[in-house]
Amino acid sequence: MKPIGVFDSGVGGLTVVAALRRRLPAEPVLYLGDTARLPYGTKSAETVARYTQRNVDLLVSRGVKGVVVACNTASAVALPRLRSPVPVWGVIEPGARRAAARSRGRVGVVGTESTIRSDAYGAALRRLRPELAVASEACPLFVPLVEEGWLDDPVTEQIASRYLAPLVARGIDTLVLGCTHYPLLTPLLARLLGPGVGLVDSGEAVAQQLAEDLGRAGLLASGRRHADHFLVTDAAERFGRLAAEILGNPVSLELVELV
Ligand code: DGL
Repeated sequence: MKPIGVFDSGVGGLTVVAALRRRLPAEPVLYLGDTARLPYGTKSAETVARYTQRNVDLLVSRGVKGVVVACNTASAVALPRLRSPVPVWGVIEPGARRAAARSRGRVGVVGTESTIRSDAYGAALRRLRPELAVASEACPLFVPLVEEGWLDDPVTEQIASRYLAPLVARGIDTLVLGCTHYPLLTPLLARLLGPGVGLVDSGEAVAQQLAEDLGRAGLLASGRRHADHFLVTDAAERFGRLAAEILGNPVSLELVELV
């Protein structure tokens, strides 16, 4: 059975794998974490587009039936130029659609510097609902804090309060978690924002989209789940440790070289 390819700059995309496992429990995943080139979020659009094409080519060469670009930065800047013989799903459109459907009028978006600079979420939200007020904030310190495991820590809380302050001041009612790592901060962010602000996880949204699209195309896997397979381009040990925490089970890794 052909797997779904999922790629991210590193370990963060495993939050999308977790969402896929919840929605599509029988679907096997071939995951690629481009840990040798992480982070993508501070790099230029040209560089991220080049890396993204190479990652998709590798997954296609391994026989996937479609690719989920779990990385928000890659989805934001590389999708329009991407060439692929199999269907590709990015996280921006599904995340924006979910936020547009839920918002009462004011949406906040948080993400890496490159994602926020691209305004991909803002553009998608305005296409869906032109009257929406959209406020965005880059939160570059969130990725290292999550990778350090400081998910509900006073330091993270202080930094999050500072990042969120301009969005709170704009009266947002919905916040798009526009980065693979941010769903892991959900309890902290929900506490800081209070019950009046809904959080949108783009990984959850793309998993729902995938379930709908594969179902419509008659491409859903059935029966017992086949084992997932994980490829990394560097630092397998660190990846393995974080992966076990995010997915709740140990994963076996294959180191691949991408030139
Ligand atoms: N995966 C990236 C994203 O979702 C975050 C990590 C990075 O900067 O590479 O934007």
